[in-house]
Amino acid sequence: MAIFIPEDKISEIKNAVDIVEIISDSVILKKTGRNFVGLCPFHSEKTPSFTVSPEKQIYHCFGCGSGGNAFSFLMNQEGMTFPEAARALAKRYGINIPTQTLTPEQRRAIDQKEKLLNINKLAMEYFQRCLSADVAGQGARSYLKRRGFSGDIIKRFNLGYAPKGWDHIIRFFSKKRVSGKLLETAGLVVPRKDQSGSYDRFRDRIIFPIIDINMKIVGFGGRVMDDGEPKYLNSPETPVYNKSRTLYGLHLAKNACRTAGSVYIVEGYLDLLALHQHGIVNSVATLGTALTADHIRLLTRFAQRMILVYDSDEAGIRSAQRCIDTFWKEHVDFRREDVFQEENADTRILVLPQGHDPDSFLFENGAESFETAASAAPGIISFLIDRAIQKHGLSTEGKIRVVSQLQAPLAAINDRVARSLYIKQLAERIEIDEKVVLEKIRETRPSKSIGRETSGAAPDLKSVSDASKLSIGGNRLEQKIITMMLQYPQILPEIDRQKVLKHFESKLLKSIGTTILDRNLKSQAVVADLLNTIEDPEQRRLMAALAMTDEFWDEKGSHLLISQFVDTVQRRHQNKEMDEQIKAAEAKNDQSLLYRLLQEKQKQAIRSAKQKQALLNNK
Ligand code: CTP
Ligand code: MN
Repeated sequence: MAIFIPEDKISEIKNAVDIVEIISDSVILKKTGRNFVGLCPFHSEKTPSFTVSPEKQIYHCFGCGSGGNAFSFLMNQEGMTFPEAARALAKRYGINIPTQTLTPEQRRAIDQKEKLLNINKLAMEYFQRCLSADVAGQGARSYLKRRGFSGDIIKRFNLGYAPKGWDHIIRFFSKKRVSGKLLETAGLVVPRKDQSGSYDRFRDRIIFPIIDINMKIVGFGGRVMDDGEPKYLNSPETPVYNKSRTLYGLHLAKNACRTAGSVYIVEGYLDLLALHQHGIVNSVATLGTALTADHIRLLTRFAQRMILVYDSDEAGIRSAQRCIDTFWKEHVDFRREDVFQEENADTRILVLPQGHDPDSFLFENGAESFETAASAAPGIISFLIDRAIQKHGLSTEGKIRVVSQLQAPLAAINDRVARSLYIKQLAERIEIDEKVVLEKIRETRPSKSIGRETSGAAPDLKSVSDASKLSIGGNRLEQKIITMMLQYPQILPEIDRQKVLKHFESKLLKSIGTTILDRNLKSQAVVADLLNTIEDPEQRRLMAALAMTDEFWDEKGSHLLISQFVDTVQRRHQNKEMDEQIKAAEAKNDQSLLYRLLQEKQKQAIRSAKQKQALLNNK
């Protein structure tokens, strides 16, 4: 996105900006040592862990992990895009941004998006007028009233009504000289099959405008008022509407999510309206699509605990399964695992009593009952265990089925601690030996991941690294190296010479390291610059966290760390070779060779433990 504003302008803005000043607009900051601290605006906390460094012009929260520079602060706090943040800062510091540097294509794309958003806004207002119109809106108004929705909710969600007929929207916009083609792109009209023009997509329906966190109208949903089909009709994907990234109601829910630290995720428009009407404002809806990884990533900016609400067991089980697939199975790379650990720390599944969806449950039982039910909602795996037991019972046969049903989901969990805790839980619930479950899970677990875990374990250094306290995952030794590179750039040539990065296991840390080497950091102040050019939010977050730690690196310490890393890599290679030899010996059933190799392996392990100890004593 940064390409829309010339690089030299971005640097000019960066040089002018004072991050302490920008953040002080919304957070009360107190000076402590080199940094300022305050209460984090991105999660609720009672003791300040939100840190701002004037030296490096970055911020980082040691509680929730959010971090970045002045640009990212505005993006997160005010929901701005990068160009919006750049423009806001430029304005504040009196810097003039020329716009003619766009390529014609970029210009066209931006123009089109702006036009579409404007059309959507006009359409929303048109539908709203129709809803309040005396005669035409009468039916829709009484429908909403019958369903129990207040005037306040109708206003808060900008509900509207699309009148009966084939060309209301077309005529409304033709007066404004908006072409049918553009309305088609906006998804408001549908081309006729015989190519002779188009007709209104939404006819005689209640309209739910879909609004994103930047308060832009990106699409619409429409519900019939009788039992016509389809019950709901939604805008198609357009240049401004991406279903798998949009959550209905997030624009109204985000602050409440931050305060509560949790978010309810429901499936329908009216379910969401019911929650809001009952004062449960920390809730959003997915609108006919499954919850995606993008949805989850978006939500983690606002809440740690997610409660997925479903109206039937089957829907709940399907969704639990899908969550596991998304976060535990398909994406075993470092980044997703990181996302998973944060997110699944607390993802719960709430299945409402038979026959109820959130909307009917709330109107019948009220908010308190809903919250009581929610507070007892189990985590994903516990939920699956419960359902499997319900289904198969606890006879011997049943237990066998329960274990085999849980086999795949448990095996898919990459976090070793989480996995063993769940295995223990399952064993206890069905009263069988934990070892038996463990065996069963081993059968399924891909050997690749098992190897990764054992070889990836980094020596535990007893040092003052704040980064190690963060849930950034990955290899700690590799994290330390990145921190050192950021804080003691004099070591960069040595990192390059020894090809240290080549041996990194974490793809994310490796790419951060490569970026640092490529940019050839000259001083600490450049960190903010570097951060700013990193598009990937995860990468930016991690780098800010590592740059922010209060470590002091010097010549001696840096060389020691590098040699330790080189040793570890060597040991890793030796181990791998040894394991291969052992495997071969096993295959040949050569018992005496096997015995010798295992003894040798044992000796190696003792040697490396001693080396580690020696390094620790040295420090
Ligand atoms: N949905 C959809 N298209 C359909 C049916 C449903 O997009 N043809 C989506 C809508 O977002 C809807 C959600 O799935 O809100 C849940 O559908 P459903 O349970 O059928 O409807 P409810 O939300 O219960 O709506 P209502 O209470 O009005 O019946
Ligand atoms: Mn319903």
